[in-house]
Amino acid sequence: MATLAAAMLCAGTPAAAQEQLNIICSVQAEWCNLIQTVYGKTTGVKVNMSLKGSGEALAQLIAERANPKTDIWFGGTGDPHLQAAEQGLSLEYKSASLAQLHDWAQAQAAQSNYRTVGIYSGPLGFGYNPELLAKKKLAVPKSWADLLKPDYKGEIQVANPASSGTAYTMVATLVQLWGEDKAFDYMKALHRNIQTYTRSGTGPIKAVARGETTVSISFVHDGPGEKLQGFPVETITPAEGTGAEIGSMSIIKGARNLEAAKKFYEWALTAQAQQFGAAAKQFQLPSNKGAKVDPNVPDFKKIRFIKYDYAKYGASAERRRLIAKWEKEVNSLPR
Ligand code: F6P
Repeated sequence: MATLAAAMLCAGTPAAAQEQLNIICSVQAEWCNLIQTVYGKTTGVKVNMSLKGSGEALAQLIAERANPKTDIWFGGTGDPHLQAAEQGLSLEYKSASLAQLHDWAQAQAAQSNYRTVGIYSGPLGFGYNPELLAKKKLAVPKSWADLLKPDYKGEIQVANPASSGTAYTMVATLVQLWGEDKAFDYMKALHRNIQTYTRSGTGPIKAVARGETTVSISFVHDGPGEKLQGFPVETITPAEGTGAEIGSMSIIKGARNLEAAKKFYEWALTAQAQQFGAAAKQFQLPSNKGAKVDPNVPDFKKIRFIKYDYAKYGASAERRRLIAKWEKEVNSLPR
């Protein structure tokens, strides 16, 4: 309640005439809905929320470029936000609060010429269902290499990198870990063990939690929320090393409700507003250094990270090329 009250103060007083704000929201529905309710109630702004995965959000923004219907894009992995910046789909905007953010969030803003900004971060890893693993007499996978074991045939879900930023983060992570040839050989071998490629990045860990599959390749911050709902799910990060996302936010160029978008942007960068993630049981690391870090947020110090090159893998040509290559060389293979 204290958080809610503080966020209400930050959001300001209700506007006289009803302003509108059109948001594409690429975090999970619970967080999007909470923002819609709290921000709408406290400011009087009518918030229209459209839920889309990171890749799908970018596709929509490209499609509506001539006549944007979106004012702000909240959340989703940073690579497609950088791509939107590069393509001139998002507006340059430098918040006075930037200094309150972690270096990685400020770096995301600087490398896009202030057309996007980091709002959270989270590591890529695996989700697994310990009950199902025990029932099938399977070990907990501890490394990328483990996922290739024949034991896991048909047991693993991951999303499709064309629609999901989570899955694109996996492709980019593996390429940076081993070089492109080895990474694609790996993904071709992994393909044999994949049960389904889902549209959304959070689909696989939800399937794990519900016992529909045993293992997922997921952001590990998406595990605790499922566990808090009572599902048997645990997470682990791979021994060889892994990447992390910089979840981002961008104001759309040509936004019809630009002033409302800027006000929302400023609000979303405050420590108070960023605590709504954990309030909605979503446990990414907030980008505002003053935001309270929930104990369910993964401990970054315990994870072996690669040095992820966000500028390179967020570039349009590179992202398009890697996804097309994945479609042609991996997804087209029989399983
Ligand atoms: O909302 C959970 C989350 O894992 C975010 O941390 C991330 O930015 C987003 O989903 C990515 O979703 P998708 O893979 O569907 O683009």
